[in-house]
Amino acid sequence: MSDSPISHHSGGTEPQQPVEGEDASTEQKAQMEQAYAQMRRKMRMSQLDKEIKHKIMVLSGKGGVGKSTVSVGLALSLARQGKKVGLMDIDITGPNVPKMLGVENADLHVEDGQIFPVIGPHGVKVISMAFLIEDPDKPVIWRGPIKLGAIQQFIGDVAWGELDALIIDFPPGTSDEPLTVSQSLPGIDGVVIVTTPQEVALLDSRKSINFAKTISLPCLGVVENMSGYTIRGTAEPNTTVSIIGPKGTPIESQTDENGDWMVTLDVFKSGGGASAATELEVPFLGALPFDPGIVRGGDDGVHRIIAEPDGATAEAFDIVVRNVLAELENSSSPSVKIS
Ligand SMILES: Nc1ncnc2c1ncn2[C@@H]1O[C@H](COP(=O)(O)OP(=O)(O)OP(=O)(O)O)[C@@H](O)[C@H]1O
Ligand SMILES: [Mg+2]
Repeated sequence: MSDSPISHHSGGTEPQQPVEGEDASTEQKAQMEQAYAQMRRKMRMSQLDKEIKHKIMVLSGKGGVGKSTVSVGLALSLARQGKKVGLMDIDITGPNVPKMLGVENADLHVEDGQIFPVIGPHGVKVISMAFLIEDPDKPVIWRGPIKLGAIQQFIGDVAWGELDALIIDFPPGTSDEPLTVSQSLPGIDGVVIVTTPQEVALLDSRKSINFAKTISLPCLGVVENMSGYTIRGTAEPNTTVSIIGPKGTPIESQTDENGDWMVTLDVFKSGGGASAATELEVPFLGALPFDPGIVRGGDDGVHRIIAEPDGATAEAFDIVVRNVLAELENSSSPSVKIS
């Protein structure tokens, strides 16, 4: 396809071009090649619908709320339960999924017109625009049609194989990318919306839910990220410990018989995601704690689920996954049918 930044050989399976004699112009040949490439892609798209059981888009109304962290976490949590999982990073300007999974230096393998995903931890198959960018310090400036062409090519040309779930991470907002994906990829199950706990979350989530409605996709639910931050300590057993909370007010905790205590601070307020879900009448999928280990993991390429598989964050992801799976099971339930 001529407007695509991804170039590779198209493989040897296409039919002979019905070109008259030797005189067909180069332009005609190019047009026909493009038409065949499009036909092949369409056929693969319908194949994808059969090969990939569930396709889930991860969206948020605004940036930096943890879409990529949640996408990677959902993928890893599903994969460690033995599911076959793919993760597609559609963020062209800031693709950071490969870094979060420690596979940012991997190269995509292209053969016979197909792009083979990079294999990450727990066998998660990863495709990201980051794999195409030679210099990560240079901004990627692709004009609309080129960007959308690349996305379509990513969807149509990737050899995912059989998958239980494909998680798709997007740039913030309700831009062209989710629209293109929803129009190109058949059989998307729905949208998971990521939000933070502030009250403005309601506003942002409403936008994302309305967007899902516009593109006729069910909203599987809302995940509240960066929820409470838990601090722990030890003191005299069976006594009361008092610490100063974020608002300057004391917060008390009881130590147990070993002297251990624990307090969860609502760094950004609490419950924005749950109340947004209630008010907008969509399922609440769970809350993920504010965890400095997530930031470290993003930098080191070792996700929290890998670094601490039995930790509170990994457990919270498992709960979200359980709820997402339940929603997928009930996807005929009227509560998730937005359109
Ligand atoms: N639960 C969490 N606890 C602590 N830090 C977090 C948590 N979730 C995400 N972060 C941190 O917040 C930052 C933004 O996260 P992330 O990149 O996942 O957001 P995003 O919504 O994908 O951003 P963008 O809109 O730019 O794509 C990262 O530094 C990440 O490590
Ligand atoms: Mg992101």
